[in-house]
Formats: sequence, structure tokens, C-alpha cells
Amino acid sequence: MKTIDELLAEGVAGRRVFVRADLNVPLDGTTITDDGRIRAVQPTVARLAEAGARVIVASHLGRPKGAPDPAFSLAPAAARLGELLGAEVAFATDTVGDSARATVAALADGQVAVIENLRFNAGETAKDDAERGAFADQLAALADLYVGDGFGAVHRKHASVYDLPARLPHAAGGLIATEVGVLKRLTDDVKRPYAVVLGGAKVSDKLGVIDHLLEKADRILIGGGMAYTFLKAQGHEIGTSLLQEDQIPAVQGYLKRAEERGVEFVLPVDVLVAERFPDLRTKAPAHPATVAADAIPAGQMGLDIGPETGRLYASKLADAETVFWNGPMGVFEHPDYAEGTKAVAQALVDSPGFSVVGGGDSAAAVRILGFDEKAFGHISTGGGASLEYLEGKTLPGLAALED
Ligand code: 3PG
Repeated sequence: MKTIDELLAEGVAGRRVFVRADLNVPLDGTTITDDGRIRAVQPTVARLAEAGARVIVASHLGRPKGAPDPAFSLAPAAARLGELLGAEVAFATDTVGDSARATVAALADGQVAVIENLRFNAGETAKDDAERGAFADQLAALADLYVGDGFGAVHRKHASVYDLPARLPHAAGGLIATEVGVLKRLTDDVKRPYAVVLGGAKVSDKLGVIDHLLEKADRILIGGGMAYTFLKAQGHEIGTSLLQEDQIPAVQGYLKRAEERGVEFVLPVDVLVAERFPDLRTKAPAHPATVAADAIPAGQMGLDIGPETGRLYASKLADAETVFWNGPMGVFEHPDYAEGTKAVAQALVDSPGFSVVGGGDSAAAVRILGFDEKAFGHISTGGGASLEYLEGKTLPGLAALED
């Protein structure tokens, strides 16, 4: 994989460089609520611009349906990138149309433009190779060189991620290099004990990674909505808690394999319950009760791990040399259900080992709950991408940068 250092050494002045970033940031209207992904790619854009490249930054945002939709415009992200660069950033209101062509043509050496959401064009995500290829051809016509730095999207076989690098001389950006370096530390030559904390709503999203990590990790701690399917699989009543009944056989298989392999599989011992899901808009007090995990009353749902579980999980992470965490422990967006996620985040901060926060909700939680990002070994910008890497899958956006 060619690095951005090698590309810069060859010289990029006056060249049009297409940077595939992941600027898919959470928005409240047009307000960015977590700019972590923009900050993460900013150094790559800055280095190219300082070297005199004409930088074209492209990304998807959300999941628009292959046509322009103002709710998913990249304009707020472009403005934020400009603030972080301390420079004017031009914005094209389409992807490969008149606005994009004119905006790129108007770039002087060292200037930066952002083009509109790539998913406003159906070719970006098309399953059909020819349709994706046709869009990649149009994108390729905008640029001379390609830098892949959208780590959060490397698991997608999309035109700008997979097909475009085949059409242009390419290199990996600094963010992708960092992320892949971290993931290698979680898969090759791992320092032990290696503890993995998995949360989030659905077990089905985590089956692949559990399957793979059962061969690698020493301890797997489970929280979040997915924990209730595990508790049910152990024969406990879980009231109205989230349940993926069809996953029970798979979960039972994992519990058995963990026992056979000597992997410590840790489930909540207490949980916070209430009759209903909390109001995340008003954040009205939810008055949860703490109950033993094997005694969830009928009609009540589990919404966070309890304090005893928080302490138990902290103790399981205290001596870990390597920790990977993906997925919140409860409905952390509501203050009454944030303590479990806070306890795990704090345990990662306190852990003397190398602690990695997987992207997505857990990365957002760490920032929203006010933790200092520097206290962690690494906070990934890619939730799905890092999970798929840890599952041992080939990621299209990394494979495309290899040759
Ligand atoms: C993410 O948020 O995980 C990435 O930006 C990929 O987005 P996607 O799941 O919509 O492809």
C-alpha cells in the first residue's frame, strides 16, 4: 500500500487529488453534533494542500436514496472542514455535474473543494459493477490522483471506495494508515490478557466478530441491548427487554465454545429496568430500578447494565494489556442510563494496557459523555469497518489500495 508520504515525496503540486474521506457525521438539522471524523481526516487534507495539490474532498453522508436530498447535504461538513483548516473551502452542489467540474477547474494550487454527497448519485452504491464503474469513470475525470482516507467506509464496495482507485494512481491517507496499524495490534501479536467489550442493540450485528474473537480474546464482556438475548439463552426471564429470539441457538453455541476454549464470557449480573423506553428528546427522569440480571420482572425492560456489573467489568479490564470496546452498555443518550457506558469508558481510561474504542456509537458516547479523547489508546472512526476487519474479512476499500 503506497503511503501518503511516498505520494508527497513524488510531488503533488498542481495535481488534482481526490481524497475519499468519511465525513458521515451526526447532524441535528444542520448542526454537527460530533465532528470527530472531520478532525481525523483534516491532517491529510492539510498536508496535500500545503504541498500545492488541488484537493477534492468527497464523502457520503447518511443513506439518501441515490438522488439529491437536502437533509443529507455535505455543506455543514465542508464548512467545518474549512474552519479546521483555517482556509476557504469551495463547495460543489453536485457530485460529477456542472458545479463539480467548475469548482474543480477553479481550484488554484493549495486550495480545497468538497463535492456534494456521493450517495446523491445511484452509481455510488450500485450492486451492478457497470453502473458503479460508470460513476467511477465520471469521478476519475475530475482528478489526477486518488488518496483513500475514508476509513469508516472501507467495508463498502462502493464506486468511490472500490472502483475509483482502480482508475487513478492511488495511496492510503494518514488516517487509514493509523487505523490499520491499530487493528493489526488487535489481531497479530496481541498483548495478553486481551479483553473485548461488546454492546449495542443487536446480537446479529456482532455474530461475526464474536465468532472470530472467540479464537483470539481471553475475555469477552457483553452489555447493551444484545445482552438480553444472552440472558434469555441462559434460561432467564427478560421481561420486555430487547430480544432477538432467532439468534438464541447461535448465542448458545458461542457460550459453549467459550467454555470449551477457556474464554471467559462475562454477562451482566444486574441491570437497570423500567416499564418503558425513556424519552430521549425531553430526557425526563425515567426512575429506573436496579434488579439482578436473572430476576427482571415481567413487564419491565433492561436499559443499562447495573452498578455491580459496572464494577465487575472494570475489574475484568484492570489488568488487560489490550482492550477493544464496541457498542454502548445502555441507552447512554439518557442521563439515567449513561452510567454503565461511563463505567466501561472509565475502565478503558484507567487500564494500563492499549485501549481501543471502536467507532460508531461508542466513539460518539465517549465524546458526548465528556471523556478526554487522549486518555484512550485509540478512538476509531469506523464502527462497521473495524468490526469487519476484526471478523477477518477482506475490506474492499483496503484491498483497492493494495496494488
Ligand atoms: C459509518 O457511519 O459506519 C460509515 O460512514 C459507513 O456508513 P454506512 O453504514 O451508511 O455505509
